[in-house]
Amino acid sequence: MAAPQKQGGLAGITAGQTSIATVGKEGKGLNYRGYSIFDLAAHATFEETAYLLIYGQLPSSNELVAYKQKLQGLRDLPADLKNILERLPRSAHPMDVLRTGCSALGTMEIEGESYTQADIADRLMASFGSMLLYWYHYSQSGTRIELHASSDSIAGLFLELLHGHPPSELHERVMDISLTLYAEHEFNASTFAARTTASTLSDMYSAITSGIGTLRGSLHGGANEAAMELIAKFNDPDDAEAGLLSMLAGKQLVMGFGHRVYSISDPRSDIIKEWSRKLSEETGDMKLFDISERIESLMWQEKKLFPNLDFYSASAYHLLGIPTAMFTPIFVISRTSGWSAHIMEQRANNKLIRPSADYIGHDPMPWLPMADRG
Ligand code: COA
Repeated sequence: MAAPQKQGGLAGITAGQTSIATVGKEGKGLNYRGYSIFDLAAHATFEETAYLLIYGQLPSSNELVAYKQKLQGLRDLPADLKNILERLPRSAHPMDVLRTGCSALGTMEIEGESYTQADIADRLMASFGSMLLYWYHYSQSGTRIELHASSDSIAGLFLELLHGHPPSELHERVMDISLTLYAEHEFNASTFAARTTASTLSDMYSAITSGIGTLRGSLHGGANEAAMELIAKFNDPDDAEAGLLSMLAGKQLVMGFGHRVYSISDPRSDIIKEWSRKLSEETGDMKLFDISERIESLMWQEKKLFPNLDFYSASAYHLLGIPTAMFTPIFVISRTSGWSAHIMEQRANNKLIRPSADYIGHDPMPWLPMADRG
């Protein structure tokens, strides 16, 4: 038998073609359908961005109004789904709630003539926040919340359902930008999982459920929760520096740093960092931000590693009053737009995704009867 080698994780392997996004490509940077992430974060709302990803072009002003109305009409949940959510334990991880909610909705609004792939993409984006917060309030206090809000945005709906009152303009804007930043990122692990599921001719809900399960781990979407847990451990920047040095000496991973594709910086991090700074200044409490900046400079000094989107998203979400376990579910709400675009692209020119492996097991052996096995 050959000795197992450290697996390459398909690093640097081109696994298909896409016209949805470029990540870290020379001269292109991060683009969604040709539009720079910097322009999208500065000028677009998440709904415009999602429309761009799912329908292939930026909406006109009439199309955007109609799209936002459509999404608002998709916020409420079927009674059967609410019943299922009420039965999920209070101790469940919110990612498991969304994974279950997505799968359950797929038994009620089955993909077909009445529910097209684009309808399902919109439905899930519009209602994932409702699923999560309906379960959250019911499991915490037995309250069956109404699933509407005064805000017409997905960002505003989430914050209003969470806190029970409309968010400030700043808070809604930061949440909205964060959704735009998380919306799409080419052949990342969860998108690849969703495409692989779609490539078997499976349905939309199955493909999105695959994406959710793949996003959950801390090497991928779960890194924003892990980053928050790390930052929250420290009392001040000096404490963080000492803690980080000891983690690095012990060869531990520092979540929220590094990236498979980017080698010098993650453009999304620079954007969310500035919004995290603004939120900290608004509250007058710079503790988390200062700790985060110290960790950032130490990681660069010691390992030449830079923060990815997850690192400063952690302090931003915390300052928006969002419980840590909901950080990755927010990523789900947003990335559903990118996953859906990829599922549609995969289906439009489908080929079963089925790579091969180098075999490193035994050579063929004679059958070993039970009596001879010792
Ligand atoms: N903390 C400490 N060391 C890190 C690190 C981190 N966050 N990220 C990478 N490294 C180190 C690795 O240990 C490895 O060191 P070695 O060569 O001594 O073994 C080296 O840098 C190369 O990393 P590698 O694991 O081969 O890179 P990858 O492309 O397989 O991994 C990530 C990419 C994102 C999985 C990795 O950077 C990571 O685990 N980051 C933390 C999780 C995270 O933030 N995920 C969200 C990504 S958007």
